[in-house]
Amino acid sequence: MPGACSFLPNLASAPHFESLRSDPPNLASIARMERTKQPIVILGAGYTGKFLYRLARKQGETVFATSRWPENHLSFTRPEDRLAFDLHRKETWESLPPQSQLIWCFPALPAKAASAFARHMTSQKCRFLVLGTTSAFPRLGGGIIDETMEVDLAKPRTQSEEDLRKIHGAIVLRLAGLYGPGRNVLDWIRKGKIFSSERYVNLIHVEDVAGICLKALTHAPPGSAYIVSDGVPRRWSEICTMAVRRWGIPRPPHSHGKDGGKQLSSCKVLRELNYQLRYPDLYEALDILEQDPRGTHS
Ligand SMILES: NC(=O)c1ccc[n+]([C@@H]2O[C@H](COP(=O)([O-])OP(=O)(O)OC[C@H]3O[C@@H](n4cnc5c(N)ncnc54)[C@H](OP(=O)(O)O)[C@@H]3O)[C@@H](O)[C@H]2O)c1
Repeated sequence: MPGACSFLPNLASAPHFESLRSDPPNLASIARMERTKQPIVILGAGYTGKFLYRLARKQGETVFATSRWPENHLSFTRPEDRLAFDLHRKETWESLPPQSQLIWCFPALPAKAASAFARHMTSQKCRFLVLGTTSAFPRLGGGIIDETMEVDLAKPRTQSEEDLRKIHGAIVLRLAGLYGPGRNVLDWIRKGKIFSSERYVNLIHVEDVAGICLKALTHAPPGSAYIVSDGVPRRWSEICTMAVRRWGIPRPPHSHGKDGGKQLSSCKVLRELNYQLRYPDLYEALDILEQDPRGTHS
């Protein structure tokens, strides 16, 4: 069962849980405390960035958000937290604060620009967390996919993320399909974007992505990679059946495509980062979205 993994961390052996013990803080935990004081910069604060910004502020972090058009696109931030940044305009790189924790929320392409930017920012003692996608994993005949599986380096985005991880120590989070306020799976069905098929889909609520990003900044080692999904691969046909029964949404046409999709494991991210999903159950999360589509009460 993909969703079934032990969430109980071994507190005695896991280095990142040392701060929970009563021993005097060691060098590793002091380094972590230092890191949390570094400003967080959300590079490309679009959909995920907005939730990240809000959560980071709520947790008392110093946080900046970037856009190529900050005055137009960052109305959800305080004016003093807005930065202009475009990967393709080198002069904008200088506006980013040194010694910061950069969360990269758009595809790290083209690879040459991504790598030059990473070199520049690591010389400024910055650290990176990169949001990738689970399309990095090749489609297999079946079975559970976890982080031990080889990624597909023929894909330029995956190759670029791997360079950032291996050369520049970036933490890479490979995200499953994002949903949340404004991106409601049931609306995709209502609008005819989905066929009822036997293909597996893996999803993750955007608020959990935000929570996992912040956990990863303090707990994930440089150069690590994690799959980020709710750990319950579902067939589209199952979701469509539930949409009919629970919300009275007409069943979309069936598709007999050969693509079986992927079944992703989320065990590593939940266990190593000691993260508890806020939305472990897709259908309960969709109930909440139906009642509060804009997420104003979350
Ligand atoms: N949506 C999904 O289901 C899904 C699944 C897996 C992975 N992901 C990945 O997760 C990440 C976050 O997704 P999201 O949906 O939150 O992204 P998003 O809403 O598109 O936000 C990313 C923002 O980055 C900025 N940007 C784009 N190109 C840029 C460049 N060259 N230089 C500087 N800024 C740039 C854009 O903002 P401005 O126009 O304001 O500059 C854009 O709105 C993305 O990397 C995405 O590929 C998404």
